[in-house]
Amino acid sequence: MSILDHTDPQSLEDIDRQVSFPKNFLWGAATSAYQIEGAVQEDGRAPSTWDRFASTPGATYQGHTGEIAADHYHRMEEDVALMASLNLSAYRFSISWPRILPQGTGAVNERGLDFYDRLVDALLAHGITPLATLYHWDLPIALQDRGGWVARETAYAFADYAEVVTRRLGDRVHRWITHNEPWCTSYLSYALGLHAPGLRDKQLAVNVGHHVLLSHGLAVPRMRAQLPSQAQVGIALDFYPVYAADDRPETLEAVKRADTFRNRWFLDPVCWGSYPDGLFSDMGVAAPPIQEGDLALISTPIDFLGVNYYSRMLVRDRQDRASGSESSLYGDSYETITRIPGSSYTEMGWEIFPEGLANILTRLHREYGVQSLVVTESGAAFEDHLDGNSRIHDSQRLEYLRAHIQAIAAVREQGVPVDGYCIWSLMDNFEWAEGYRKRFGLIYIDYPTQRRIVKDSGIWYASFIHYQHEQHK
Ligand code: FCB
Repeated sequence: MSILDHTDPQSLEDIDRQVSFPKNFLWGAATSAYQIEGAVQEDGRAPSTWDRFASTPGATYQGHTGEIAADHYHRMEEDVALMASLNLSAYRFSISWPRILPQGTGAVNERGLDFYDRLVDALLAHGITPLATLYHWDLPIALQDRGGWVARETAYAFADYAEVVTRRLGDRVHRWITHNEPWCTSYLSYALGLHAPGLRDKQLAVNVGHHVLLSHGLAVPRMRAQLPSQAQVGIALDFYPVYAADDRPETLEAVKRADTFRNRWFLDPVCWGSYPDGLFSDMGVAAPPIQEGDLALISTPIDFLGVNYYSRMLVRDRQDRASGSESSLYGDSYETITRIPGSSYTEMGWEIFPEGLANILTRLHREYGVQSLVVTESGAAFEDHLDGNSRIHDSQRLEYLRAHIQAIAAVREQGVPVDGYCIWSLMDNFEWAEGYRKRFGLIYIDYPTQRRIVKDSGIWYASFIHYQHEQHK
């Protein structure tokens, strides 16, 4: 049954009827394991870095953890049925490494694999294409205790894990993402200390970044050896297109530095096999320990690039030299303008800027020659309120999504090859350091009861996808 059958269909505006996408365009929603699954001690799962970090006093909002989260591990069938009612044609999820290899390496826990096996079968039974991410930040604690991503060995452990998972699921899952947002795995986690393991050392962050990239490069051929030839392997990077706040030459230089740091650090090695000039010296660190052959591996051609996009950066040359912000960690090299007159912001404090999505997609195609782009995350946190009829009128989120889909339609018309759009997120979930107070879902989770309620944005998305499918009948 479609959600359109049992809820008032939100009428589509003319604007939605004017955009048209190809039949096989992936209309998806995204989640990640630790953010939704809960069941942290079940079926042989061992702790991850996030279990430890979240239970560290002060690390997350009000000490929230992913212990129960959206209880998806126990409600998977119900959740897949909801995806079907939203008319999704794709679902992006991540696999929990500590469920599959509780010690990080060595013995495989079949019960962990069984869960994803059932998930994949349920998706396929509903005609939903699975997009599986291998690493969305939950490193087995045993590997963290052996140095985590600072240790080169972790890259080899990841490639082994990638092979185990693709061997089991690769007959049915044909879209794979190795890593989610290496910038966050590295800088946010090892320099800013905001994510697990919560360290503050720029040099470690750069070394971690290299090992994460290396693990991607080592895994791709190991995965392909398990996968049918039509399967596609990629990586999901997070992008913040950088704009100049004024036209002073110093500011234009600051824009370049910010772009190098925030967008090119991981993109250039994957696409071009080299780190951008000036990256490490501007950061005030030494180059990471690059061994011969690493960059060739890292730039093994991929089949598609995942693009996570939330906002842009507006920067100028730094004049005040204040310390403590992200940019001051980056060698005092630029200043970010955080409250722009006339702009609107989400609950995360992120400026709403759909043109930035068009900008980055176009650039990735024209400048980097990427031939297949999938928007693997796009979405917004807003405060949601249940009305007396158990409805959530999240019109701001609906407008956010509509504007970003229109941006994609516009660049597709100009020949930019965008093949899918995954909304972050399918459902409200554990938003890392922000805990449960930031809601991104198309589906509202009432945490005390775990009741699921499709928000207006979800109903609209279902109608929109339905209309797109109708076009091709
Ligand atoms: C991205 C993460 C995702 C979620 C969104 C809001 O950086 O990949 O897990 O937290 O931000």
